[in-house]
Amino acid sequence: MNVPNHIAIILDGNGRWAKAKGMPRSYGHVKGCANLERICDDMKELGVKYLTVFAFSTENWKRSKEEVDGLMKLFRGYLEKCLKIADKNHMRVKVLGDASAFDQDIQDRIKILEEYSGKYNELHMQIALNYGSRDEIVRGVRKLAEDVEKGTLKPEEISEHTFENYLDTAGIPDPDLLIRTSGELRLSNFLLWQLAYTEFYFTDVAWPDFDRDELIKAIEQYNKRDRRYGGVKEE
Ligand code: IPE
Ligand code: IPE
Ligand code: MG
Repeated sequence: MNVPNHIAIILDGNGRWAKAKGMPRSYGHVKGCANLERICDDMKELGVKYLTVFAFSTENWKRSKEEVDGLMKLFRGYLEKCLKIADKNHMRVKVLGDASAFDQDIQDRIKILEEYSGKYNELHMQIALNYGSRDEIVRGVRKLAEDVEKGTLKPEEISEHTFENYLDTAGIPDPDLLIRTSGELRLSNFLLWQLAYTEFYFTDVAWPDFDRDELIKAIEQYNKRDRRYGGVKEE
């Protein structure tokens, strides 16, 4: 089995999963968060080098205050616990998105986790928090325009490669496989630039139920794909 170098996952379906069990949406988020802890072990064991997960979008602030508050509480706990997960899996953690919208203590936890785990490089985990691809591109363009204004970058030096350095994912290879759980067939503003040549895998399984067997199924499907990058298939 050829294991993708970089897997990205849209962790979806926590709310519906809980509702189907007669439980509040927050229960689904707790179980989804536990599954995120677990899947890092699978990624490490299978030899995946990069894992990027979509955990909170720039649009998710539209949810009820109760749900958003519950998610913030969960992030606080997770970001702290993640120090141990980083140790266990020799995992470097980076948060993608605009962290400035979070309370200061959450921003501090992100900084501590990123700095602490910077010594590892076996598994690279990116967590997208208050992330939206359009927002990322606009923030990147703004930084780039500032550099042009300062004179440190010339317009003719702007290429796909230089532009990528202004994205939150600078230095991280593009995903090979994107997984979205729970049946929705859309990107919901996730990694629009980076997924240009990524293989997509959609499953009806809700995120809290997405286990190692489901991950292997997704990788097996990926192995059947014929990746061409615009070329022709070699016979
Ligand atoms: C994904 O589950 C987690 C977040 C977006 C924070 P959802 O909360 O979107 O669950 P559904 O899609 O409503 O079932
Ligand atoms: C996408 O899921 C964002 C995350 C998984 C964090 P949503 O559940 O928010 O997406 P939509 O609203 O169904 O498109
Ligand atoms: Mg959803």
